[in-house]
Amino acid sequence: DGLPAARLFSQGYSYTYDDVIFLPHYIDFPTDAVSLSTKLSRHVALATPCVASPMDTVTESSMAAAMASLGAIGIIHSNNAASQQASLVRLAKSHKIPFNHDLVFKSPAESILSSEEFLSAPCIFVTESGAQNSKLLGTVQKPDWDRLADKETRISDYMRNFSISLPAGYSFEDVAGYLAKNELEVVPLVRGNGEMGEEVVNLVTIDDIERIRGFPKLGLPSLGSDGEFLVGASIGTRESDKERLEHLVKAGVNVVVLDSSQGNSIYQIEMIKYAKKTYPELDLIGGNVVTTYQAQNLIQAGVDGLRVGMGSGSICTTQEVCAVGRGQATAVYKVASLAAQNGVPVIADGGISNSGHIVKALTLGASTVMMGSFLAGSNEAPGTYEYQGSHRVKKYRGMGSLEAMTKGSDARYLGDKAKLKIAQGVVGAVADKGSVLKFIPYTMQAVKQGFQDLGASSLQSAHDLLRSCVLRLEVRTGAAQFEGGIHGLISYEKKSF
Ligand code: XMP
Repeated sequence: DGLPAARLFSQGYSYTYDDVIFLPHYIDFPTDAVSLSTKLSRHVALATPCVASPMDTVTESSMAAAMASLGAIGIIHSNNAASQQASLVRLAKSHKIPFNHDLVFKSPAESILSSEEFLSAPCIFVTESGAQNSKLLGTVQKPDWDRLADKETRISDYMRNFSISLPAGYSFEDVAGYLAKNELEVVPLVRGNGEMGEEVVNLVTIDDIERIRGFPKLGLPSLGSDGEFLVGASIGTRESDKERLEHLVKAGVNVVVLDSSQGNSIYQIEMIKYAKKTYPELDLIGGNVVTTYQAQNLIQAGVDGLRVGMGSGSICTTQEVCAVGRGQATAVYKVASLAAQNGVPVIADGGISNSGHIVKALTLGASTVMMGSFLAGSNEAPGTYEYQGSHRVKKYRGMGSLEAMTKGSDARYLGDKAKLKIAQGVVGAVADKGSVLKFIPYTMQAVKQGFQDLGASSLQSAHDLLRSCVLRLEVRTGAAQFEGGIHGLISYEKKSF
């Protein structure tokens, strides 16, 4: 029954995940026997095959820390100054708590005029200059501010002196134990900052502890040889990106992604050669590519991983604007087949909107999936929630949208030297999904069930079954796709976990 992948994907059609379906195989193991452990790149191993995309509405330090705590990884975006990106990397790596509060810092001479300042954290930190990396003097607690008759009162008149804190390197269980033993509601986490004394990098509340204890557990966290969270970062191919790379390496970045929508360029190949020569120990992921020709060039230049996808992302308009790209199922299968012969892991980037897409991407040869919209509505994504009617949403924008490009991401689309900027992405909003710490474990359990139906107990076994033609696929007609979705109901409640 069905066709082997090699035949299905060589008929001149560009298929995406929804176009194809795997035929089930034989089950001789339980779901929990499925291992999804994998490689992001030649030397970076992960327990969970998920990657948070380097987009400014997806991955900053909170997302990177949360993904690493799940055994996955986040790639911190580069739509910022090099020093800012490096400090986001350091922040994600500097503690073992799987999230960050967005901390607010003020100087003693300032006032707090609006309760909105307390939205992201229950207390505000007071430092000498009002910046995070300046001497810490005290805190302002929300109840103290609530009691103020005159909100213009200077902070120095009512702040509390800074007393209790814990080292940022404390584990989640150590912090939880400390809060319980001392009957505290909140504790700041600090790290040494040379002459400056101590710098606050995060805080933990008892609500955080309870919330996280309620989440399902998922494998081992992603830790580097330094014992800190694994964190990646993206760079471009401009001359100034060499300096950015140096900042990132100093911050301890574990893997670097060369961020381009069309990676097969002289600019990227030169940057790969430069980075490999300057930092031979650092894994470098090239892309994006969708053909074996593009992939071959980057493999020859020395990449340790390949990112696959062009125009498949939910906010992408590259295929419409530039008339180039490829259906994501075909692109992943073709590139991964070549990359496997060279021992180069492949990231299937974009177009993931459910666990079935992840099963398809991984079985077709990818070692990990990179996601934007799937993660952008989570608590850990940058930005705050807004309401659109009765829907709680977070902003999600393409890095090729005009809005993002004004901040510098036009280099990804090789448009930084062009006088006229052409958008290859849109700005939108995605629904609130809660914490990645909750929905990624559920999603991975669903992926394991998919692997079990295919009779594959690991990624390697799925790849072997596909290449040996044991696993077979078919193309779904429009009616078959309709039948495969929910249909025929007047109403239903969509809740997957
Ligand atoms: P998803 O589907 O996960 O896709 O939201 C995320 C991926 O989309 C790519 N990306 C873009 N592609 N125009 C594009 O053509 C854009 O503005 C844009 N922004 C992001 C990127 O590969 C990301 O990982």
